[in-house]
Amino acid sequence: MTATILTENRDGVLVVTLNRPDKKNAINVEMWVEMRETFKAAAEDDAVACVLLCGAGGHFCAGVDLSGFGDAFSDKEYPFESAARAVVEFDKPLIGAVQGVAVGGGATVLFHADIVYVGESLRMRLPFVSLGLAPEWGSSYMLQANIGAQRAAELFYTAQWIDADKAVNCGIAAAVLPDANLFNHALAKATEIAQWPLNSLRETKRTLRMHHLEAIDAAINAEQAVWKRQAGSPENIEAITAFMEKRPADFRNL
Ligand code: COA
Repeated sequence: MTATILTENRDGVLVVTLNRPDKKNAINVEMWVEMRETFKAAAEDDAVACVLLCGAGGHFCAGVDLSGFGDAFSDKEYPFESAARAVVEFDKPLIGAVQGVAVGGGATVLFHADIVYVGESLRMRLPFVSLGLAPEWGSSYMLQANIGAQRAAELFYTAQWIDADKAVNCGIAAAVLPDANLFNHALAKATEIAQWPLNSLRETKRTLRMHHLEAIDAAINAEQAVWKRQAGSPENIEAITAFMEKRPADFRNL
């Protein structure tokens, strides 16, 4: 079976590639587990100075795999929270190289990246209200912290599409590049970072992130409680069914 996460250490930069290109790298149970184990191992490995996170096939990530969404609210152990926390707690620089689709968890993971470079093709969206859900991955806190409450609220409540220029202008991303140059630019920056002493990179990240970690923890706990209420609700089931049936959702009769 093909790995859902590919890794390659390039001179201290661990390139982590989300790898389900036929599903726009939507994250299924297997990928959550591989993501968790990848970030935990990268934190422990002194040969890794930083991680460069990207997606296979010209897209970053379409978020949670909606075809297996029932598992997210069944009694089965669903590895989302442990994977999300492994990324949040990763204590070395995390750099994103993001093009094409970045939706749901494929967007909110980026709010925990230290630097995000986006390609001109970026199509980012926080679709939670349109799915009968609410924000996840600490994004209810982190997006406000990154871009301010007003801008965050507009993006969450409207579920509008965010293009590359908007992502940079509002502070979600550091720079926009032509898609063809995106990976090499991000890798060059990550390589520049990886030359510095590991302890110094770790301590720098600690000073940058320590103000946020308690708030992110509280946000994830609150969000998980909301997801337990909303996942499997009539509006959520209608939204998921509509997606699988490739039709617009109809919330009018709920
Ligand atoms: N879960 C499961 N499958 C997904 C998926 C997801 N989150 N996102 C995309 N796919 C699948 C599609 O069903 C399609 O599969 P098929 O070829 O077997 O029909 C394939 O990936 C390609 O996606 P498609 O919808 O044809 O691409 P697009 O460019 O028209 O649209 C998106 C891309 C991301 C805008 C659209 O797929 C989408 O809205 N996906 C859901 C995103 C989402 O809400 N994620 C959950 C957040 S909590």
